[in-house]
Amino acid sequence: MTATLEHPRTVGTVLPVRIAGLGVGLPARIVTNDELAAELDTSDDWIRSRTGIAQRHVAAPHEATSDLAAAAGKAALADAGLGIEDVTTVLVATTSPDHRVPGTAPLVAAALGTEVSAFDVNAACSGFVTGLRVGGALAATGDGAVLVIGAETMTRIVDPEDRAVRVLFGDGAGAAVLVPDEHAHLGPFDLGSDGLDPSMLWCPDGGTRTPIAPTADGDPYLRMRGGDIYRHAVTRMVASSRAVLDTAGLGVDDVDLLVGHQANARILDAVVQRLGIDPDRSHVTVDVHANTSAASIPLALADARDRGRLKPGATVLLTAFGAGLTWASCLLTWDPEEDA
Ligand SMILES: CC(C)(COP(=O)(O)OP(=O)(O)OC[C@H]1O[C@@H](n2cnc3c(N)ncnc32)[C@H](O)[C@@H]1OP(=O)(O)O)[C@@H](O)C(=O)NCCC(=O)NCCS
Repeated sequence: MTATLEHPRTVGTVLPVRIAGLGVGLPARIVTNDELAAELDTSDDWIRSRTGIAQRHVAAPHEATSDLAAAAGKAALADAGLGIEDVTTVLVATTSPDHRVPGTAPLVAAALGTEVSAFDVNAACSGFVTGLRVGGALAATGDGAVLVIGAETMTRIVDPEDRAVRVLFGDGAGAAVLVPDEHAHLGPFDLGSDGLDPSMLWCPDGGTRTPIAPTADGDPYLRMRGGDIYRHAVTRMVASSRAVLDTAGLGVDDVDLLVGHQANARILDAVVQRLGIDPDRSHVTVDVHANTSAASIPLALADARDRGRLKPGATVLLTAFGAGLTWASCLLTWDPEEDA
């Protein structure tokens, strides 16, 4: 492995790793825009026209992030034809963990029946692609399979009365099994962060900066400056996508499928337009999943695969942006074993 660091945050490394299986964990309950409009001062028309969202899955009261993550992980292993004994690391990308302590990944590992290394990555909506970078590097050492799961229960951290945020988010999990494969390509990657103004998208209180005492007022809910986030999302995903394409020496016409973070259809449209990619090559699931943060890309990838949009050898561009701010993009060659 060698790194090309022409751009300080672009990792030129192309890892000899492939995605051997994908799986999803979606709560059974679907909530439509009309159902939200019965509780909030909003409408199906407002939500659809501003975001492209028509519905979202919402976790049942007994379900938390680790439950969705374990379901996705189990399905991904079955898809790969592997067992939990083949897995050396369980990595969970989440910004809505079951608990502040411990991490969610050990709970998922236990649910799957393993005591291997298990840890969380919190890069918000960029978490899954960041997890591919970390998990890919581990898988490339050849020890075995690495389970990378993006999992969120975002509906638990939004203020039920904040219409500007609540309508945007949904719950779910998506998982990928990474295995070493000398013929495979995972990368290059472009990852970055800008933590100068975290208040653009954050939960203000309840962490170590401003703990919430049991009796005190505080704001534990997800708050957002939507306009600022919109602008940064488009700018960062476009720049990050260009960075990985430039590093790989590829152009937009070489991309068979773009799977961007599913935050908002308008953001995805703007990214596609600025990159100059044929809109038909952008896979969109935000209409049915809403924004599931770190779960959005693996959910969309699995959906694309199930719809026959990932052909053997296809060049896939993943690009994500989220709270932090954080961003992460990478290229991968889709080449599942059964089609190789
Ligand atoms: C949130 C977002 C959809 C708002 O869209 P917009 O085009 O900026 O909205 P507009 O300017 O047309 O409308 C804003 C108005 O709608 C109102 N509004 C907000 N949410 C609403 C809702 N669910 N239903 C109806 N009205 C709503 C606001 O209160 C505001 O009203 P005001 O002008 O009286 O103050 C847009 O800014 C966005 O997509 N931001 C990025 C969000 C995101 O993807 N975050 C996650 C990134 S990982």
